[in-house]
Amino acid sequence: MNYEIKIFKNAKLLAEQLAKDFQSLSQKFISYKGNFNVALSGGNTPKLFFRELAENYRNKIEWSKINFFWSDERCVPPEDKESNYGMAKIELLDKVPVSKKNIFRVHGEGNPQIESEKYSSAIQKILPNDNGKPIFDLIILGVGEDGHTASIFPQNIELINSDKLCEVSEHPVTKQKRITLTGKVLNSARFIFIAATGETKAKKLKEVFNERKNNASIPVKFIKNESGKLYWYLDREAAKYL
Ligand code: 6PG
Repeated sequence: MNYEIKIFKNAKLLAEQLAKDFQSLSQKFISYKGNFNVALSGGNTPKLFFRELAENYRNKIEWSKINFFWSDERCVPPEDKESNYGMAKIELLDKVPVSKKNIFRVHGEGNPQIESEKYSSAIQKILPNDNGKPIFDLIILGVGEDGHTASIFPQNIELINSDKLCEVSEHPVTKQKRITLTGKVLNSARFIFIAATGETKAKKLKEVFNERKNNASIPVKFIKNESGKLYWYLDREAAKYL
């Protein structure tokens, strides 16, 4: 598995480096092809990263040339506190000069199956395609305590190998419906940044990086990104067993 692990003293320093790398990558892609196609993740980990971008990169990134997508979304309205888009809007998108027409949110308020298909169509329409796979420049992911990533959980790990671009998923405990990118899209990105902080992720990450252990039930283990580069951003607490 070709990847690089970056370990940081704390979550704040991790977020600062993530923002710096985001800016650098956006500059490279915008200079090269005029835009930057990125999929954001949800949850708590990205919040510090979004705040860092909003506070210190407002005038250092060509925001109007970035197309924003999401790795997954909860099937809730955008104003719901659970919404990944809603969180990004509050913490970042409302604070930097993005172009509203370049925000491609999943309409969590709609019918999950219909919205999953509509999101797939939007991705196919906007992103370059390589052999039937839409290519993101960057996908930012997190890791759940159970090893899920995006909204691919151990209980529906087959979504990693779906031949669709997006699937309707379900949180195994809350039964909340989700819409998620599948492994077909996730593993086709040019760059993937996976960020994990806090001790609650440490045990699972030990399993993920234990090459000998058969980890058939850990979704994030299947994020290999054969055609691109994979960087892990961990704080010391999350990396304590590595
Ligand atoms: C989501 C995310 C999910 C998240 C992990 C980690 O919709 O919740 O996309 O995959 O990255 O659950 O969440 P935390 O950052 O809150 O630990």
